[in-house]
Amino acid sequence: MATVAASPTSLEGLGAAILDALPVSLYVVDRKLRVVAWNRLREQGPLGQPRGRVLGRPLSRVLPPGGFRTTAPLIRAVFSTGRPQQGTVETRGTRLFQVRRLPVLRGRRVTHVLSVFEDITEQRALEMRLIASDRLAFLGQLVAGVAHEISNPLAGIAGCAEILASLACKVEGQQDEVERFQRLIRDEVARCERIVRSLLGAARPQAGATADLAATVGESLRLLERHPAFHRIKVVSRTPGKLLAGIDPDSLKQVVMGLALNAARAMAGSGTLTVRGSRLGRQVVLDVLDTGPGVPPEIRPRIFEPFFTTDPSQGTGLGLAIARSLVRGRGGDLVCRSRRGRGGSFRVVLAAARP
Ligand SMILES: Nc1ncnc2c1ncn2[C@@H]1O[C@H](COP(=O)(O)OP(=O)(O)OP(=O)(O)O)[C@@H](O)[C@H]1O
Ligand SMILES: [Mg+2]
Repeated sequence: MATVAASPTSLEGLGAAILDALPVSLYVVDRKLRVVAWNRLREQGPLGQPRGRVLGRPLSRVLPPGGFRTTAPLIRAVFSTGRPQQGTVETRGTRLFQVRRLPVLRGRRVTHVLSVFEDITEQRALEMRLIASDRLAFLGQLVAGVAHEISNPLAGIAGCAEILASLACKVEGQQDEVERFQRLIRDEVARCERIVRSLLGAARPQAGATADLAATVGESLRLLERHPAFHRIKVVSRTPGKLLAGIDPDSLKQVVMGLALNAARAMAGSGTLTVRGSRLGRQVVLDVLDTGPGVPPEIRPRIFEPFFTTDPSQGTGLGLAIARSLVRGRGGDLVCRSRRGRGGSFRVVLAAARP
Protein backbone atom coordinates (compact mmCIF):
# COMPACT_ATOMS: atom_id res chain seq x y z
CA MET A 1 0.00 0.00 0.00
CA ALA A 2 1.46 3.39 -0.96
CA THR A 3 1.70 6.37 1.33
CA VAL A 4 3.10 9.57 -0.12
CA ALA A 5 3.18 13.08 1.21
CA ALA A 6 0.55 14.91 -0.81
CA SER A 7 -0.65 18.43 -0.32
CA PRO A 8 -4.30 19.10 -1.30
CA THR A 9 -3.49 20.62 -4.69
CA SER A 10 0.13 19.82 -5.46
CA LEU A 11 2.90 17.46 -4.52
CA GLU A 12 6.26 19.10 -4.09
CA GLY A 13 9.80 18.40 -3.02
CA LEU A 14 11.20 14.92 -2.60
CA GLY A 15 7.87 13.12 -2.98
CA ALA A 16 7.33 14.63 -6.44
CA ALA A 17 10.95 13.96 -7.43
CA ILE A 18 10.54 10.31 -6.44
CA LEU A 19 7.35 10.00 -8.46
CA ASP A 20 9.22 11.46 -11.46
CA ALA A 21 12.03 8.96 -11.03
CA LEU A 22 9.74 5.93 -11.14
CA PRO A 23 9.77 3.91 -14.40
CA VAL A 24 5.96 3.93 -14.55
CA SER A 25 3.46 6.57 -15.52
CA LEU A 26 1.15 7.71 -12.71
CA TYR A 27 -1.16 10.37 -11.36
CA VAL A 28 -2.84 11.06 -8.01
CA VAL A 29 -6.33 12.45 -7.37
CA ASP A 30 -7.93 13.68 -4.16
CA ARG A 31 -11.42 12.80 -2.89
CA LYS A 32 -12.99 15.39 -5.21
CA LEU A 33 -11.23 13.67 -8.12
CA ARG A 34 -8.92 16.64 -8.67
CA VAL A 35 -5.45 15.92 -10.01
CA VAL A 36 -2.78 16.61 -7.38
CA ALA A 37 0.19 14.82 -8.92
CA TRP A 38 1.13 13.90 -12.48
CA ASN A 39 4.57 12.39 -12.99
CA ARG A 40 7.00 12.88 -15.85
CA LEU A 41 6.19 9.65 -17.71
CA ARG A 42 2.47 10.55 -17.57
CA GLU A 43 3.38 13.66 -19.64
CA GLN A 44 4.62 11.44 -22.48
CA GLY A 45 3.10 9.04 -24.97
CA PRO A 46 -0.08 9.29 -27.04
CA LEU A 47 -2.28 10.23 -24.05
CA GLY A 48 0.34 12.32 -22.22
CA GLN A 49 -0.32 15.93 -21.21
CA PRO A 50 1.98 18.55 -19.66
CA ARG A 51 1.40 18.67 -15.90
CA GLY A 52 1.01 22.46 -15.95
CA ARG A 53 -2.23 21.90 -17.84
CA VAL A 54 -3.69 19.24 -15.51
CA LEU A 55 -2.58 19.90 -11.90
CA GLY A 56 -5.45 21.15 -9.72
CA ARG A 57 -8.05 20.42 -12.42
CA PRO A 58 -10.91 17.93 -12.12
CA LEU A 59 -10.14 14.56 -13.68
CA SER A 60 -13.31 14.89 -15.77
CA ARG A 61 -11.62 17.79 -17.67
CA VAL A 62 -8.30 16.04 -17.96
CA LEU A 63 -9.24 12.63 -19.35
CA PRO A 64 -11.13 12.14 -22.62
CA PRO A 65 -14.89 11.69 -21.86
CA GLY A 66 -14.87 7.92 -22.55
CA GLY A 67 -11.76 7.45 -20.39
CA PHE A 68 -13.30 9.39 -17.52
CA ARG A 69 -16.54 7.37 -17.69
CA THR A 70 -14.66 4.10 -17.17
CA THR A 71 -12.03 5.47 -14.75
CA ALA A 72 -14.19 7.44 -12.29
CA PRO A 73 -16.20 4.47 -10.90
CA LEU A 74 -12.98 2.50 -10.37
CA ILE A 75 -11.32 5.34 -8.44
CA ARG A 76 -14.50 5.92 -6.39
CA ALA A 77 -14.50 2.20 -5.53
CA VAL A 78 -10.95 2.52 -4.15
CA PHE A 79 -12.01 5.52 -2.04
CA SER A 80 -15.03 3.70 -0.65
CA THR A 81 -13.50 0.24 -0.08
CA GLY A 82 -9.88 1.15 0.62
CA ARG A 83 -8.88 -1.81 -1.55
CA PRO A 84 -6.59 -1.57 -4.63
CA GLN A 85 -7.99 -2.24 -8.11
CA GLN A 86 -6.16 -3.74 -11.05
CA GLY A 87 -6.82 -4.03 -14.78
CA THR A 88 -5.40 -3.49 -18.26
CA VAL A 89 -6.03 -0.78 -20.86
CA GLU A 90 -5.02 -0.47 -24.48
CA THR A 91 -4.10 2.90 -25.97
CA ARG A 92 -5.27 3.23 -29.57
CA GLY A 93 -4.73 -0.46 -30.09
CA THR A 94 -0.93 -0.13 -29.99
CA ARG A 95 0.30 -0.29 -26.38
CA LEU A 96 -0.99 -2.39 -23.51
CA PHE A 97 -0.81 -1.03 -19.96
CA GLN A 98 -1.38 -2.69 -16.63
CA VAL A 99 -3.24 -0.21 -14.42
CA ARG A 100 -3.16 -0.33 -10.63
CA ARG A 101 -5.28 2.03 -8.56
CA LEU A 102 -3.90 2.23 -5.03
CA PRO A 103 -5.37 3.89 -1.94
CA VAL A 104 -3.19 6.54 -0.25
CA LEU A 105 -3.95 6.44 3.49
CA ARG A 106 -3.74 9.09 6.22
CA GLY A 107 -4.45 7.10 9.30
CA ARG A 108 -7.38 4.93 8.28
CA ARG A 109 -8.85 7.40 5.82
CA VAL A 110 -8.21 7.13 2.09
CA THR A 111 -7.26 10.71 1.16
CA HIS A 112 -5.99 10.11 -2.37
CA VAL A 113 -5.93 7.47 -5.07
CA LEU A 114 -2.78 6.75 -7.00
CA SER A 115 -3.22 5.41 -10.56
CA VAL A 116 -0.12 3.63 -11.85
CA PHE A 117 0.31 2.61 -15.50
CA GLU A 118 2.93 0.07 -16.46
CA ASP A 119 3.62 -0.59 -20.14
CA ILE A 120 3.41 -4.40 -20.53
CA THR A 121 3.20 -4.51 -24.35
CA GLU A 122 6.54 -6.32 -24.82
CA GLN A 123 5.99 -8.64 -21.86
CA ARG A 124 2.58 -9.65 -23.20
CA ALA A 125 3.99 -10.15 -26.72
CA LEU A 126 6.64 -12.46 -25.27
CA GLU A 127 3.99 -14.43 -23.39
CA MET A 128 1.96 -14.78 -26.60
CA ARG A 129 5.06 -16.01 -28.48
CA LEU A 130 5.67 -18.61 -25.76
CA ILE A 131 2.07 -19.79 -26.02
CA ALA A 132 2.43 -19.96 -29.83
CA SER A 133 5.67 -21.98 -29.57
CA ASP A 134 4.01 -24.36 -27.09
CA ARG A 135 1.24 -24.84 -29.59
CA LEU A 136 3.75 -25.47 -32.37
CA ALA A 137 5.50 -28.11 -30.27
CA PHE A 138 2.12 -29.72 -29.67
CA LEU A 139 1.42 -29.47 -33.41
CA GLY A 140 4.66 -31.34 -34.09
CA GLN A 141 3.61 -34.19 -31.79
CA LEU A 142 0.14 -34.23 -33.25
CA VAL A 143 1.43 -34.40 -36.81
CA ALA A 144 3.78 -37.27 -35.99
CA GLY A 145 0.89 -39.14 -34.33
CA VAL A 146 -1.51 -38.56 -37.21
CA ALA A 147 1.08 -39.52 -39.79
CA HIS A 148 1.80 -42.76 -37.94
CA GLU A 149 -1.87 -43.64 -37.53
CA ILE A 150 -2.78 -42.89 -41.12
CA SER A 151 -0.10 -44.73 -43.05
CA ASN A 152 -1.33 -48.30 -42.42
CA PRO A 153 -4.99 -47.72 -43.30
CA LEU A 154 -3.82 -45.95 -46.46
CA ALA A 155 -2.00 -49.07 -47.63
CA GLY A 156 -5.15 -51.08 -46.90
CA ILE A 157 -7.34 -48.68 -48.87
CA ALA A 158 -5.02 -48.82 -51.87
CA GLY A 159 -5.20 -52.64 -51.86
CA CYS A 160 -8.99 -52.67 -51.59
CA ALA A 161 -9.30 -50.19 -54.47
CA GLU A 162 -7.32 -52.55 -56.71
CA ILE A 163 -9.48 -55.56 -55.82
CA LEU A 164 -12.68 -53.56 -56.19
CA ALA A 165 -11.62 -52.34 -59.61
CA SER A 166 -10.74 -55.83 -60.86
CA LEU A 167 -14.15 -57.14 -59.71
CA ALA A 168 -16.04 -54.20 -61.16
CA CYS A 169 -14.30 -54.55 -64.54
CA LYS A 170 -16.57 -57.47 -65.16
CA VAL A 171 -19.54 -55.12 -65.43
CA GLU A 172 -20.19 -54.59 -69.16
CA GLY A 173 -19.66 -51.14 -70.60
CA GLN A 174 -18.49 -49.57 -67.33
CA GLN A 175 -14.83 -50.32 -67.74
CA ASP A 176 -13.65 -46.83 -68.63
CA GLU A 177 -15.52 -45.24 -65.74
CA VAL A 178 -14.26 -47.85 -63.31
CA GLU A 179 -10.69 -47.36 -64.48
CA ARG A 180 -11.03 -43.61 -64.16
CA PHE A 181 -12.15 -43.96 -60.54
CA GLN A 182 -9.50 -46.52 -59.82
CA ARG A 183 -6.89 -44.07 -61.10
CA LEU A 184 -8.35 -41.28 -58.98
CA ILE A 185 -8.33 -43.42 -55.83
CA ARG A 186 -4.82 -44.65 -56.47
CA ASP A 187 -3.51 -41.14 -57.19
CA GLU A 188 -5.14 -39.72 -54.11
CA VAL A 189 -3.87 -42.47 -51.85
CA ALA A 190 -0.40 -41.94 -53.26
CA ARG A 191 -0.73 -38.24 -52.59
CA CYS A 192 -1.76 -38.91 -48.98
CA GLU A 193 1.23 -41.19 -48.58
CA ARG A 194 3.53 -38.49 -49.86
CA ILE A 195 1.95 -35.94 -47.51
CA VAL A 196 2.36 -38.32 -44.59
CA ARG A 197 5.98 -38.94 -45.50
CA SER A 198 6.69 -35.24 -45.73
CA LEU A 199 4.94 -34.63 -42.40
CA LEU A 200 7.12 -37.25 -40.79
CA GLY A 201 10.13 -35.46 -42.16
CA ALA A 202 11.17 -38.64 -44.00
CA ALA A 203 10.85 -36.95 -47.36
CA ARG A 204 12.48 -33.60 -47.83
CA PRO A 205 10.81 -31.44 -50.49
CA GLN A 206 12.46 -32.28 -53.76
CA ALA A 207 14.98 -29.52 -54.37
CA GLY A 208 14.41 -27.87 -57.71
CA ALA A 209 10.93 -29.43 -58.13
CA THR A 210 8.57 -27.35 -60.24
CA ALA A 211 4.82 -27.32 -60.75
CA ASP A 212 2.94 -26.38 -63.87
CA LEU A 213 0.49 -23.87 -62.47
CA ALA A 214 -2.40 -24.45 -64.88
CA ALA A 215 -2.16 -28.25 -64.69
CA THR A 216 -1.92 -28.34 -60.88
CA VAL A 217 -4.79 -25.88 -60.40
CA GLY A 218 -6.87 -27.85 -62.94
CA GLU A 219 -6.26 -31.14 -61.12
CA SER A 220 -7.05 -29.63 -57.70
CA LEU A 221 -10.31 -28.13 -58.92
CA ARG A 222 -11.35 -31.35 -60.68
CA LEU A 223 -10.93 -33.23 -57.41
CA LEU A 224 -13.05 -30.69 -55.58
CA GLU A 225 -15.90 -30.84 -58.13
CA ARG A 226 -17.25 -33.84 -56.27
CA HIS A 227 -16.94 -32.28 -52.82
CA PRO A 228 -20.37 -31.52 -51.32
CA ALA A 229 -19.32 -27.95 -50.45
CA PHE A 230 -18.92 -27.25 -54.22
CA HIS A 231 -22.29 -28.40 -55.55
CA ARG A 232 -23.71 -24.93 -56.11
CA ILE A 233 -20.45 -23.07 -56.61
CA LYS A 234 -19.38 -21.67 -59.93
CA VAL A 235 -15.67 -22.17 -60.46
CA VAL A 236 -13.77 -19.84 -62.78
CA SER A 237 -10.16 -20.70 -63.49
CA ARG A 238 -8.00 -18.20 -65.36
CA THR A 239 -4.56 -19.67 -65.30
CA PRO A 240 -2.55 -19.34 -68.49
CA GLY A 241 -0.36 -22.26 -69.56
CA LYS A 242 3.45 -22.22 -69.45
CA LEU A 243 3.63 -20.80 -65.94
CA LEU A 244 6.05 -22.82 -63.82
CA ALA A 245 6.37 -22.33 -60.08
CA GLY A 246 9.26 -23.34 -57.81
CA ILE A 247 7.35 -25.86 -55.70
CA ASP A 248 6.48 -29.56 -55.97
CA PRO A 249 3.02 -30.21 -57.46
CA ASP A 250 1.71 -32.08 -54.38
CA SER A 251 2.41 -29.17 -52.05
CA LEU A 252 0.84 -26.72 -54.47
CA LYS A 253 -2.19 -28.97 -54.82
CA GLN A 254 -2.57 -29.05 -51.04
CA VAL A 255 -2.35 -25.23 -50.88
CA VAL A 256 -4.88 -24.69 -53.70
CA MET A 257 -7.33 -27.24 -52.29
CA GLY A 258 -7.09 -25.74 -48.80
CA LEU A 259 -7.77 -22.23 -50.11
CA ALA A 260 -10.59 -23.38 -52.40
CA LEU A 261 -12.27 -25.32 -49.58
CA ASN A 262 -12.04 -22.32 -47.26
CA ALA A 263 -13.62 -20.19 -49.99
CA ALA A 264 -16.46 -22.67 -50.53
CA ARG A 265 -17.17 -22.83 -46.80
CA ALA A 266 -17.09 -19.03 -46.51
CA MET A 267 -19.66 -18.80 -49.34
CA ALA A 268 -21.87 -21.26 -47.47
CA GLY A 269 -22.45 -23.37 -50.54
CA SER A 270 -23.24 -20.82 -53.27
CA GLY A 271 -21.21 -18.15 -55.07
CA THR A 272 -18.24 -17.90 -57.41
CA LEU A 273 -14.71 -19.12 -56.82
CA THR A 274 -12.11 -17.54 -59.08
CA VAL A 275 -8.57 -18.86 -59.35
CA ARG A 276 -6.27 -16.60 -61.33
CA GLY A 277 -2.62 -17.25 -62.13
CA SER A 278 -0.21 -14.67 -63.45
CA ARG A 279 3.44 -13.79 -63.80
CA LEU A 280 4.78 -10.85 -61.82
CA GLY A 281 8.43 -10.15 -62.62
CA ARG A 282 10.43 -13.12 -61.34
CA GLN A 283 7.48 -14.46 -59.45
CA VAL A 284 4.39 -16.48 -60.17
CA VAL A 285 1.22 -15.34 -58.44
CA LEU A 286 -1.93 -17.31 -57.77
CA ASP A 287 -5.01 -15.44 -56.53
CA VAL A 288 -7.88 -17.36 -54.98
CA LEU A 289 -10.98 -15.16 -54.74
CA ASP A 290 -14.50 -15.79 -53.55
CA THR A 291 -17.78 -13.92 -53.31
CA GLY A 292 -18.29 -14.68 -49.61
CA PRO A 293 -18.29 -12.16 -46.75
CA GLY A 294 -14.47 -11.80 -46.69
CA VAL A 295 -12.26 -12.19 -43.64
CA PRO A 296 -13.42 -9.90 -40.80
CA PRO A 297 -10.59 -7.51 -39.78
CA GLU A 298 -10.77 -8.61 -36.14
CA ILE A 299 -9.69 -12.19 -36.99
CA ARG A 300 -7.28 -11.32 -39.80
CA PRO A 301 -4.18 -11.28 -37.60
CA ARG A 302 -4.99 -14.79 -36.33
CA ILE A 303 -6.09 -16.82 -39.35
CA PHE A 304 -2.59 -18.22 -40.05
CA GLU A 305 -2.16 -19.41 -36.46
CA PRO A 306 -2.24 -23.20 -36.08
CA PHE A 307 -5.60 -24.32 -34.65
CA PHE A 308 -7.33 -21.00 -35.24
CA THR A 309 -10.75 -21.72 -36.74
CA THR A 310 -14.13 -20.02 -36.63
CA ASP A 311 -15.83 -23.31 -37.43
CA PRO A 312 -14.62 -26.00 -35.04
CA SER A 313 -17.39 -28.36 -36.19
CA GLN A 314 -15.84 -28.64 -39.68
CA GLY A 315 -12.26 -27.42 -39.46
CA THR A 316 -9.12 -28.02 -37.45
CA GLY A 317 -7.68 -24.56 -38.08
CA LEU A 318 -4.54 -26.08 -39.58
CA GLY A 319 -5.32 -25.40 -43.24
CA LEU A 320 -3.85 -21.92 -43.63
CA ALA A 321 -0.99 -22.54 -41.16
CA ILE A 322 0.21 -25.58 -43.11
CA ALA A 323 -0.39 -23.94 -46.52
CA ARG A 324 1.70 -20.93 -45.49
CA SER A 325 4.53 -23.05 -44.14
CA LEU A 326 4.57 -25.16 -47.34
CA VAL A 327 4.83 -22.03 -49.50
CA ARG A 328 7.34 -20.27 -47.23
CA GLY A 329 9.44 -23.42 -47.16
CA ARG A 330 10.00 -22.82 -50.88
CA GLY A 331 10.84 -19.14 -50.41
CA GLY A 332 7.34 -17.99 -51.37
CA ASP A 333 4.52 -16.50 -49.35
CA LEU A 334 0.80 -16.78 -48.74
CA VAL A 335 -1.06 -13.61 -47.76
CA CYS A 336 -4.64 -12.62 -47.10
CA ARG A 337 -5.81 -9.62 -49.14
CA SER A 338 -9.42 -9.90 -48.15
CA ARG A 339 -11.57 -6.85 -47.29
CA ARG A 340 -14.83 -7.09 -45.39
CA GLY A 341 -17.77 -7.01 -47.79
CA ARG A 342 -15.56 -7.57 -50.84
CA GLY A 343 -15.17 -11.31 -50.62
CA GLY A 344 -12.28 -13.53 -49.65
CA SER A 345 -8.95 -12.97 -51.37
CA PHE A 346 -5.77 -14.96 -50.79
CA ARG A 347 -2.55 -14.68 -52.79
CA VAL A 348 0.14 -17.31 -53.19
CA VAL A 349 3.47 -15.93 -54.38
CA LEU A 350 6.17 -18.33 -55.60
CA ALA A 351 9.43 -18.06 -57.46
CA ALA A 352 8.97 -18.47 -61.22
CA ALA A 353 10.84 -21.54 -62.47
CA ARG A 354 12.39 -22.24 -65.88
CA PRO A 355 11.07 -25.14 -67.92
N1 LIG B 1 -12.03 -17.32 -47.96
C1 LIG B 1 -12.30 -17.03 -46.67
N2 LIG B 1 -13.29 -16.16 -46.35
C2 LIG B 1 -13.56 -15.86 -45.05
N3 LIG B 1 -12.89 -16.38 -44.00
C3 LIG B 1 -11.90 -17.25 -44.25
C4 LIG B 1 -11.54 -17.63 -45.58
N4 LIG B 1 -10.51 -18.49 -45.52
C5 LIG B 1 -10.23 -18.67 -44.21
N5 LIG B 1 -11.07 -17.93 -43.44
C6 LIG B 1 -11.08 -17.88 -41.97
O1 LIG B 1 -9.83 -18.34 -41.50
C7 LIG B 1 -10.01 -19.38 -40.54
C8 LIG B 1 -8.81 -20.30 -40.56
O2 LIG B 1 -8.73 -21.02 -41.81
P1 LIG B 1 -7.98 -22.41 -41.86
O3 LIG B 1 -8.03 -22.91 -43.25
O4 LIG B 1 -6.64 -22.27 -41.23
O5 LIG B 1 -8.85 -23.32 -40.88
P2 LIG B 1 -10.30 -23.96 -41.16
O6 LIG B 1 -10.66 -23.85 -42.60
O7 LIG B 1 -11.24 -23.37 -40.18
O8 LIG B 1 -10.02 -25.47 -40.77
P3 LIG B 1 -9.25 -26.58 -41.70
O9 LIG B 1 -8.59 -25.86 -42.82
O10 LIG B 1 -8.29 -27.20 -40.77
O11 LIG B 1 -10.34 -27.48 -42.15
C9 LIG B 1 -11.33 -20.02 -40.93
O12 LIG B 1 -11.93 -20.71 -39.85
C10 LIG B 1 -12.15 -18.80 -41.39
O13 LIG B 1 -12.72 -18.14 -40.29
MG1 LIG C 1 -9.25 -24.45 -44.08
